Amino acid sequence: MATTTGPTPWRLAGVWWLALTAVAIAVFALLPYVAQPLDDLAADGSELAANYADRPAWLRLCLYAHMTGGGLALLLSPIQLSARIRSRAPRLHRWTGRAALAAIGIGAASGLVLAPHNLAGPVGVAGFGLLAVLWLTFAALGLRAIRRGAVTAHRRWALRAFALTYAAVTLRLWLVALVPLTGDFLTAYRVVPFLAWVPNLVVVELLLRDRRAAHLPR
Ligand code: HEM
Repeated sequence: MATTTGPTPWRLAGVWWLALTAVAIAVFALLPYVAQPLDDLAADGSELAANYADRPAWLRLCLYAHMTGGGLALLLSPIQLSARIRSRAPRLHRWTGRAALAAIGIGAASGLVLAPHNLAGPVGVAGFGLLAVLWLTFAALGLRAIRRGAVTAHRRWALRAFALTYAAVTLRLWLVALVPLTGDFLTAYRVVPFLAWVPNLVVVELLLRDRRAAHLPR
């Protein structure tokens, strides 16, 4: 007799953790920049804001475009990954998918422009630069797959793109752990341009290879 099994409690907890942390970082990472101009944030001790406060207007504009695109991509990710929404509201999935793709396009292009000016130096140019290129590439490959009707390939690329979108969350979680360990923000910040996303990608690849994970696309 066939039995219907729902998601395991661990899987459910994992999905909720990803969704809630994505929304929390989309809101709380951007809030200071909405509430105060860069000069004020810099005066309050934000080293990241200080890095941009005296830059030309086009670069500061790029930072705000990046935060808008990145924040939107992060907010839309839980909707895109929800199996329930995909099956019950496929039109919503398509429309939010288009918006997420545009958000990733803006976030990645502006992230690539910001990378040479980042606070971490050469390691940041490489780490953030590569992240921006892969982010846009995976999202574009996901779009190309679904345009060809390859649903499984689409979902696999979408999961990889999400692993990179989620770098915005892991970067900040790593900093919470590393700043007290190194005793200095800048030292900790030089570690995260790769640490923020390489482990995320490894975890997704392992999950996609795990035959027991029947709920994941193969
Ligand atoms: C995944 C690809 C991403 C890349 C390649 C990227 C790249 C960058 C770069 C190079 C900077 C400048 C950092 C510096 O000056 O040291 C930056 C800053 C920033 N990014 Fe991203 N980013 C990405 C995703 C996101 C997402 C999804 C968000 C959404 C919350 C986001 C929010 C921000 C914010 C708020 C800043 C300003 C610095 C801060 O307060 O943390 N980024 N990003």
